Amino acid sequence: MEPEYVRIFDTTLRDGEQTPGVSLTPEEKLEIAFQLDKLGVDVIEAGFPSASKGEERAVKEIANAGLRAQVCALARALTSDIDAALRCDVKYVHTFISTSEVQMKYALNMTPEQVIEAAVSSVQYIKDHGAFCEFSPMDATRTDMEFLKRVCKAAEEAGADYINIPDTVGIMTPKSMEKLIRELKSFLKVPLSVHCHNDFGLAVANSLAGVEGGATQIHVTVNGLGERAGNAALEEVVLALHLLYNKKTKINTRLIYETSKMVSRLTGVVVQPNKAIVGENAFAHESGIHTRGVVVKPITFEPFSPELIGRQRKLIAGKHAGRHGIKATLEEVGLHPTEEQLKEIVERIKELGDKGKMVTDADLLAIARAIMGTTAEEKIVELADLAVITGVRVIPTASVKLIIDGKEYVAAETGVGPVDAAIKAIQKITDSLANVRLKEYRLEALTGGSDAVAEVIIKVEDKDGNIVSARGAREDIVMASVEAMINGINKILSKRFRKT
Ligand code: KIV
Ligand code: ZN
Repeated sequence: MEPEYVRIFDTTLRDGEQTPGVSLTPEEKLEIAFQLDKLGVDVIEAGFPSASKGEERAVKEIANAGLRAQVCALARALTSDIDAALRCDVKYVHTFISTSEVQMKYALNMTPEQVIEAAVSSVQYIKDHGAFCEFSPMDATRTDMEFLKRVCKAAEEAGADYINIPDTVGIMTPKSMEKLIRELKSFLKVPLSVHCHNDFGLAVANSLAGVEGGATQIHVTVNGLGERAGNAALEEVVLALHLLYNKKTKINTRLIYETSKMVSRLTGVVVQPNKAIVGENAFAHESGIHTRGVVVKPITFEPFSPELIGRQRKLIAGKHAGRHGIKATLEEVGLHPTEEQLKEIVERIKELGDKGKMVTDADLLAIARAIMGTTAEEKIVELADLAVITGVRVIPTASVKLIIDGKEYVAAETGVGPVDAAIKAIQKITDSLANVRLKEYRLEALTGGSDAVAEVIIKVEDKDGNIVSARGAREDIVMASVEAMINGINKILSKRFRKT
């Protein structure tokens, strides 16, 4: 059967901007509007012009930006609000008025008859000005059914082109939403839309149920932004419509991830990592069983390909990671460890994981580079033990035990800090063997936090002018420096042995 079409009405710039703490400049709103247009939404609700002069300017700019999408402005059922919307040159006005008993009484202080009258005259006013009119009975899902039908019928007869049913405080369930829309549909001719809030985490499910009941349009926001717990998330609604409900939209799903990133950057609202579709972890696999599965056949542990929404799969190195996932991640960036090196990398990753450290891709690469920097035959000098003392009234001191050719050597040194002391102690032991001088030392903390993996990159030179660079990567800066120094000495020594 040919999939049916569902209209995507995006309200990121209106309800989304009502997210606590979010306020966009007119320039930022325009930037988002261009992206939504590229994404393929049918309607962009650009704002609420009567809210402020800046809002009016933003809506006007978006309305005149030559977008393919219809640009809509929100207005209360008041002539002054509708005039403000029309001044912005929009050809689509979304007008609303509360219809639940509690809101009519306490938020509007109006009688039901006055509400019907205001709804009808607003719809007529919009139509008289030649604009497309969408009408919302606010708090519809807590409105007495008979009254809701009366208001909707009156709006339809006044000329409304769409009636939108808001679940303003998000109290519906998928079953009750489907039933409500089905009942309204059997009674009205005008097409129906749904606008669901996420107070119980059901906004997406309720929106989809609304479509099953006969709604042909869904109000959504990027990343599920919106008042309180937000609105139905565009990305979740669209993917579910396409892949689970056999429906069509005009959305170019490949632009979903970049749109989510842009909206998050401009609004300052961070997307939770485990959020469906666009969360950082949505296509990240850590456990060995999963990584092995997705490397061989992605469908084993992915419902759809991340490329469909413009993303890439991520294999995470952590304590649950397996050799396959780690190997695949390294191969993706052109690193091909030997079996021996891979074993050591996996052990180091698991050690970090056991300490409760989250291992990022950058950490993995630093550790791999440090381990792969020395081949097994280059391991002439090995670290057996290290102890450092440092403090305010203490001279930083390090004692180092190295194994060279199966024999143990111990030395202690002082320095300006523990790194300096440890490197001097290593030089003391290896002096007669290698006589290396530290030419360059660079330290990089790869991830945030005081437990970040530190990568030390050094250049060492011996008395014959041989120069090599080497790396070390550990959560402990002294250990990373010692590892880099020993790797450097080993490289110099193997260079010399190869020459002789
Ligand atoms: O949640 C709501 O009821 C609204 C209306 C303005 C449609 O956002
Ligand atoms: Zn809303």
